[in-house]
Parts: sequence; C-alpha cells; structure tokens
Amino acid sequence: MSTATKNRTPARAASGDGLPSLLGYLTRVLKTPTIGAFWEELAVQAREENWSHEEYLAAVLQRQVADRESKGTTMRIRTAHFPQVKTLEDFNLDHLPSLRRDVLAHLATGTFVAKAENVLLLGPPGIGKTHLAIGLAIKAAHAGYSVLFDTASNWITRLTTAHQAGRLDAELKKIRRYKLIVVDEVGYIPFDQDAANLFFQLIASRYEQASIMVTSNLPFGRWGETFADDIVAAAMIDRLVHHAEVLTLTGDSYRTRHRRELLARETRTKRS
Ligand SMILES: Nc1ncnc2c1ncn2[C@@H]1O[C@H](COP(=O)(O)OP(=O)(O)OP(=O)(O)O)[C@@H](O)[C@H]1O
Ligand SMILES: [Mg+2]
Repeated sequence: MSTATKNRTPARAASGDGLPSLLGYLTRVLKTPTIGAFWEELAVQAREENWSHEEYLAAVLQRQVADRESKGTTMRIRTAHFPQVKTLEDFNLDHLPSLRRDVLAHLATGTFVAKAENVLLLGPPGIGKTHLAIGLAIKAAHAGYSVLFDTASNWITRLTTAHQAGRLDAELKKIRRYKLIVVDEVGYIPFDQDAANLFFQLIASRYEQASIMVTSNLPFGRWGETFADDIVAAAMIDRLVHHAEVLTLTGDSYRTRHRRELLARETRTKRS
C-alpha cells in the first residue's frame, strides 16, 4: 500500500455520515475546539469560493489560532488588575498636543517590551498618565505579553510583606514573570527609607530583563522628596531611564476640562 493510500484510509473509511464524528473526535484529541466548531461552515465557503485544499487548511488553522490568541489576550487583560479598562482608541490626542503621536504609535506596537525597555509618563494630575499607561499595557497584552498593574504604594506593600516573610527574592522573581509591570502614581505618597530601598530592588531586579512603566506627577529632580533619599532616587532613575521612552506631558487636567468648558460657555452667554 502506498503512503498516500494509507494516509487517506481513515477519512475514506469515515466518509459520509462518519466524517463529522471523526472530525469531532480528532479536534477533541488535538484540543482545537474552534476547528471542531468551524470546519463545516468553512468547508461550505471553500466549496462556494473554490478554495484549494491548502487554502481551506490555512483558513481552518487560522481560525483556531485567532481564537486562541484572543482568549489569551482576554485572560492577560483580566489578570493585569487594571483599575478600569482604558484604551488608546478612547484617548483624545487633540487634548494633548505635547504628546508625540509617532512615539505613542511606536509604543503601542509593544516592541519596547520585547527589548525590556521602560516607559515613563510624567505630568500633572488629570493629564491622562494612568489612561495612557493602561492603554499601552493593553496593547502589550494584545501583543502577547503578560502585564501586571498596581499603584506604587501597593507595590511597596507587596514587597514589604514579602521582605518581612523572608521571601523578597522569590517575590521579585515571581514579578519578573510579568514582561511588563505598571507602577502608577509615583510621587503622591512619600515613602520611608525601607520602602525606597525595596522599590529600588524592584527596579534593579528588572533592569535590562523586563519592562516597567511608571507614571509620576513629579519630575525626576523631585523624586528624592518621595523616596526620602536623593542617592537612592538617583540610582533608581539611572536604571529606569537607561533604556526608556520618557514622555513628559504638559497641559490642562482632562478631569476639570468639562468644568472649564462649561464655565467658559456660561461666561460667553452672560456677555452676549
Ligand atoms: N486625552 C484624553 N482623552 C480622553 N480621556 C482622557 C484624556 N486625558 C485624561 N482622560 C480621562 O480623564 C481622567 C483622568 O485621567 P488620568 O486618570 O489618566 O490622569 P492622571 O494623569 O493619571 O492623573 P493623576 O496624576 O491625578 O493620577 C480619566 O478618566 C481619563 O480617562
Ligand atoms: Mg493617575
């Protein structure tokens, strides 16, 4: 028996009524449920549009891969612990002329994560730092990278707990499994020396290995105030910015924008 004949035997044997159950069985064994659900619909389309066997095979596999990727993305976004889901698509770039669109578009590809580079978003309250950080982290999740979001004070709490239990190294290693971590709101709450040292260790443990995205209302020159130590702050910043995109955002708070617009409209109405 030739190889070709041998290979055709199972499908031939199951032709007609047996084929759907054979395909059902095969897709279960292969753990490819999407193929199980769509092979028939795609076969109808293939006949109508005269696809080659290769084209049909590619379409069936592509459907399975797309489904797997989208489930993976959903899972990565769910486990990232974002406070809200904010997307770059919802971000009004016209409100923020200080933000370079080409840089944002480049960051949205997620390649900075592959290179273990960092992103620093600096600017005053309400300018959109957290929104951009979440939006970019979601893009990274779409690109297949695992992401974890938290505020600076929550990161410190996590590290302090691990340190007190004598398992700081294990915790840093665990955190390193996330290709991108977001540290939101550096600067609002001051840290004591111990907390600053722990934060330094977090940064040092990821240096050139995995990405950090930081948002802060303070320019680097004032990080010493938050971390109670100019030297530790300088060492942190040095590592953070060595391979990084620093976005310094300037402008008005988006939060109070509507209020200002409303006030301006009222003033105009009163004048006229
Ligand atoms: N350019 C924008 N387009 C659309 N929504 C925006 C924009 N900028 C900010 N926002 C919205 O305004 C609110 C405040 O933005 P965000 O929380 O990102 O500010 P922030 O810079 O992190 O401020 P803070 O330093 O106080 O934490 C959010 O609801 C955010 O979605
Ligand atoms: Mg914020």
